[in-house]
Amino acid sequence: MKEKLLIVGASQILTLKGPGRARRGPEMRRLSVLGPNAAVLIEGGLIAAAGAYRQIRRMARGARVLELEGGVLMPGFVDAHTHPVFAGPRLRDFSLRTSGLGYRAVSRRTGGIWSTVGGVRRAGEGRLAQLLGRRALRFLKAGTTTIEAKSGYGLDLKNEIKILEVIGRVGRRGPLEIIPTFLGAHALPPGGNRREYVRLLIEKMIPAVCGKKLARFIDVFCERGYFSVKESEKILRAGLAAGLAPRLHAEQLSRLGGARLAAKLGAASADHLDHAAPGDMAALSRAGTAAILAPASNYFLGGGKWPPARGLIAAGVPVCLASDFNPGSAPVWNMQFVMSVACTQMRMSPEEAVTAATVNGAYSLGEGRRLGSLEPGKQADLAHMDVDDYREIPYYFGVNHCRMTIKKGKIVYRKK
Ligand code: NIG
Ligand code: FE
Repeated sequence: MKEKLLIVGASQILTLKGPGRARRGPEMRRLSVLGPNAAVLIEGGLIAAAGAYRQIRRMARGARVLELEGGVLMPGFVDAHTHPVFAGPRLRDFSLRTSGLGYRAVSRRTGGIWSTVGGVRRAGEGRLAQLLGRRALRFLKAGTTTIEAKSGYGLDLKNEIKILEVIGRVGRRGPLEIIPTFLGAHALPPGGNRREYVRLLIEKMIPAVCGKKLARFIDVFCERGYFSVKESEKILRAGLAAGLAPRLHAEQLSRLGGARLAAKLGAASADHLDHAAPGDMAALSRAGTAAILAPASNYFLGGGKWPPARGLIAAGVPVCLASDFNPGSAPVWNMQFVMSVACTQMRMSPEEAVTAATVNGAYSLGEGRRLGSLEPGKQADLAHMDVDDYREIPYYFGVNHCRMTIKKGKIVYRKK
């Protein structure tokens, strides 16, 4: 018989029940909140029911009962943009930035992405897997149950493969689910020739990644000094032809045209979008491309500019929130903090922030039918937060509210 678990006693249950697709516009404000006499029934690792206790009591016969004594029960966060495979922090960048330098200026002084590449190339697969495993635990402790993870700190065939293999290994081990993205086009390799590197990406790296089935998505850092729109298109099309769905770092530091490219290719997501214009937003909306906003990177880099969440939501683009966890621009794994910044600096409502951090993230990864909400048939991935009302999650900021995390119906983290 399948193992049954009945969870009762939460002060609120956010089911995020809704249409079987990413939520747009006013839909993002609907969380489908169940009151204090509700319960969630899990069976065989899947949600069997979420509703009034009276109604699901009968289905729950024989279930083990988990009494929560308050708190908010919600879907685990789906963090759809991270760069979690690196060897160490970039503390020199951090100190330099406090003297007022911007991202590019710091990168020129320290090497930026390249300094992380050096560390990753020197590190063995075992060491990187150990580090990623530790980081995976931190995500789980903060209520995140699935992340997307990009390569991009190898920048040659051997090291990009090494990173993706590490992601695969740690993801298979679980319990954090990790969806891999090939970001060989994160920067030109140190001393690299532009034309040759793009050719290497297309002719060698993409086929190798696909041959070994190491990634689901392909991403490019489309930015001045990194990859042009033309190069990005070539690389993404090559990925697409090999079976990798495109995502794109677009309009992060300047407006280059990445958002239009993402829309043209029907990309799964366009990420950052700090400098996107209204016409770009309309194009993304028509294409059904998700916007993945990463305001913790804006917070961390300073500069006072924030991703245009209100414009994107008004344009009908499905908006997601992600940590962008990486050593250069966003050393943060806590999605509760990301939600708080989104509410205070981008004027997203707490409801929109929850939707963006859960179900919309899942749809952007092509996993919305399986993850992101507490609806029957979906995987039982949940976070239990130590607050009475979900709005307290972004309100009391700078702390971890997560008291318990459940992945595939199993408790994988519990606060002592
Ligand atoms: O998303 N934009 C490119 N990648 C990261 C920064 C990476 C780094 O500085 O190491 C980002 O912000
Ligand atoms: Fe990024």
